[in-house]
Amino acid sequence: MANPTVFESIRAAAPTISVGMLTADLGHLADAFGVLEKSGVRLVHYDVMDGCFCPMTTIGPPVVGAVKTPLLKDVHLMVNEPERKVADYVRAGADIVTVHAEAGAYPHRALQEVASMENANDPARGIVRGIALVPGTPVEAIEPVLDLADLVLLVTINPGWGGQAFGAQTPRRLERARELIDAAGRDVLLGVDGGVTRGNIHDVAALGCDIIITGSAVFDGKAPAENARFMLDAVAGSR
Ligand code: DX5
Ligand code: ZN
Repeated sequence: MANPTVFESIRAAAPTISVGMLTADLGHLADAFGVLEKSGVRLVHYDVMDGCFCPMTTIGPPVVGAVKTPLLKDVHLMVNEPERKVADYVRAGADIVTVHAEAGAYPHRALQEVASMENANDPARGIVRGIALVPGTPVEAIEPVLDLADLVLLVTINPGWGGQAFGAQTPRRLERARELIDAAGRDVLLGVDGGVTRGNIHDVAALGCDIIITGSAVFDGKAPAENARFMLDAVAGSR
């Protein structure tokens, strides 16, 4: 039997977590990823910020490509004009490429560009195409691109920093996103990003999303392996 595609392996594992790497020790990223692997994590989340779409500047394609890992690379592009940049992230080994609906006039072109490329890790694996929204954007903004997206990612905070509080509007927004996805009649993954901690992961998991992003609560500078296992156990308990 053929190996599962990225979409299929996430669908089979859902709900699952994708761990943000920005607060890991960036000088020893391979070690940090090893900790995630050993804990049973399958997805690592790269927060790419360009200093224009959002205030912070973080990493680019060379960092996404730097570490060879069996983890699936989940690349969240908080950059303007992503249609001009997605190809570099695919070449760097992205398994998921998520662009923001607010990042330019051409989210379609960005998602079409990703769809036209092969996964650099394994051409048979496919690439998951994500569309993301910041909290101020009506959820209906996903509707025009739903036929091109495999993932809807609702960001619960203002993009820029880890460690902010989970947005109170998120449960209602997830519900609306689920309605729009159901109406589109396609199997689309639903994800949530920002403010997920050990304190609220059980509540977030109960909201019924497929991918839960958690960054600073795992790489807290103290006990990443224990934190990752705690988060995985919490989402497994919600299945
Ligand atoms: C927001 C990013 C998030 C964020 C997650 O700017 O998209 O991925 O860094 O970090 P925590 O889990 O610390 O809120
Ligand atoms: Zn993110």
